[in-house]
Amino acid sequence: MPDAEKLKKYLVSRTPELQWAADKLQKLMCGEVIIPPMSAAALKLGQISRNENVTMEEISKVISTDPGLTTDCIRVASSSGFAARRITSIDQALMLIGMKQIQRIAFACGVMKKFTHLKSQVDWGKFWLHSVLVARLTERVAEAFRPSSGSEYLAGLLHDSGKLLLEHYFPEYFDSIVIRATERACGHVAVEPEFIGITHAQIGAAICECLQVHQEVLRAVWFHHDPFNQGLTSQPDNSKFLAACVSVADALANYLHTNISGARIVDTPFEELPEWQFLAQYQMCGGLELDLESEIARAQEDLSAFGI
Ligand SMILES: [Fe+2]
Ligand SMILES: [Fe+2]
Repeated sequence: MPDAEKLKKYLVSRTPELQWAADKLQKLMCGEVIIPPMSAAALKLGQISRNENVTMEEISKVISTDPGLTTDCIRVASSSGFAARRITSIDQALMLIGMKQIQRIAFACGVMKKFTHLKSQVDWGKFWLHSVLVARLTERVAEAFRPSSGSEYLAGLLHDSGKLLLEHYFPEYFDSIVIRATERACGHVAVEPEFIGITHAQIGAAICECLQVHQEVLRAVWFHHDPFNQGLTSQPDNSKFLAACVSVADALANYLHTNISGARIVDTPFEELPEWQFLAQYQMCGGLELDLESEIARAQEDLSAFGI
């Protein structure tokens, strides 16, 4: 069961008279298991893949401790878009499609399954396409500066997860948020506090707490619309870098309107985004060449292969 005090830290209302919404959500998230923790194997996979010297044997050993995760990885790895041939073991999958791809599959299946029980009136296909695309792009953006730390894909995948709970528990407010954000062309996050006092980024951080993912991933989700927040500056780890990478990736996805209605409309070239400029100051950029249309096509392929 999630710790109420821990969740409270994220669910602080920005509009005092709407504190009831934050309190209601906290109660709901603590009252029943809405978002169960990721499997121990998926969490361990996240940990060990942060070590750049990790071997295929280690990855295989961790995945094999979880039969569900093993089945998912083999099923998705065998589908077209990945190896496009029949794979029967994790070792074979690792050999054929590589450690990184297996890790992506494990995270995506692990995360998406946690939300399938939420009832929704909305077609979330576009939401998951956006999430998978941002996950891929967060990796690409981070790798323009330094080798991947293993947390990028997961942070991108979870960045907007707060919207799922928001729509599930506050469907009328969610609809109003989408309408108002579309009218103002400003993105959900700018209008959410008017309706429920908290943002999907705050709810996303609470979800990450329930999933028990790494703190860097949690902070990147929490601050993906506010990567220059003072709360991140004091963090000695990768949190600020990761939050800025997710923020740039989110803007890139929004250039091509790969998102649900009411998303932020970005019209500045990405080199002029403050988040990108921050990253460019932070470290030497090795260059970022992207064909966004083909990234979307790959994200679409991934999504149909995940088959959740
Ligand atoms: Fe967001
Ligand atoms: Fe987003």
